[in-house]
Amino acid sequence: MDKATAAVRSGTTYAVCAISNPPSSTDIHDYREVRLTALRTDPSAYSSTYEREAAFDEETWRARLTGSGKVTLVARARRPDTLDGSTEGRGEGVGCMRMIAARSLPAGEGPQGVDPERGYFVFGMWVRPEHRRRGVGSRLLESGLAWVLEDAAARMGSEGAAGVWLAVTATNSGAKRMYEEAGFRELPEEHSADDLPGEIWMSRKMQVNVFNEL
Ligand SMILES: CC(C)(COP(=O)(O)OP(=O)(O)OC[C@H]1O[C@@H](n2cnc3c(N)ncnc32)[C@H](O)[C@@H]1OP(=O)(O)O)[C@@H](O)C(=O)NCCC(=O)NCCS
Repeated sequence: MDKATAAVRSGTTYAVCAISNPPSSTDIHDYREVRLTALRTDPSAYSSTYEREAAFDEETWRARLTGSGKVTLVARARRPDTLDGSTEGRGEGVGCMRMIAARSLPAGEGPQGVDPERGYFVFGMWVRPEHRRRGVGSRLLESGLAWVLEDAAARMGSEGAAGVWLAVTATNSGAKRMYEEAGFRELPEEHSADDLPGEIWMSRKMQVNVFNEL
């Protein structure tokens, strides 16, 4: 039985949605809740902290979720017992991830060799503990990579290559495994950033071609 079938049999189904850009106040509230839970639950996985982001006002969240060259994805779970309108039909937020084009980040962010016109970064990948190992993280990543292909194709035409990069704690073997299965490879140590001790960089290439549009 595959993971999607197992999740359905357990009564839970998952959907990955992109937050509207610019977001509504409801979008901001939903994303804030998932992101703050991620920071509180798995502080060692992120360079930011719960205390820092819990103090953000609505405009700071809005700015994070608004602008070109970025997408914020939220995974939602629906169980039969939550289809009663208690979450207004959206489902419970159980995971999140952001993909940001290098051109939308401050210059110099990330390892050497990232082309600002062709590079993309994965940030803030998280799945709520009780929903892990059901394919939710992989689906978030797949949706983020699909967005990269769309964004890159719109900028470069139907031929070209984009690079996707991410930093992960060196001891986080579960996350590293998930990224490897999605085609990411660890970069040699000389690419590790001094400002991210204990982190390694991983990257993968994405070929933008007409077949991706089929
Ligand atoms: C890393 C994380 C996002 C994975 O989410 P997930 O929904 O459990 O991932 P998936 O179910 O899609 O896993 C896909 C594959 O990755 C690998 N994997 C994921 N978690 C793993 C773990 N804890 N141990 C070993 N392998 C793991 C497995 O090969 C898995 O396939 P399998 O379940 O068929 O064996 C989740 O564990 C998490 O949120 N961790 C805390 C935060 C974090 O580390 N974020 C990453 C920051 S870079």
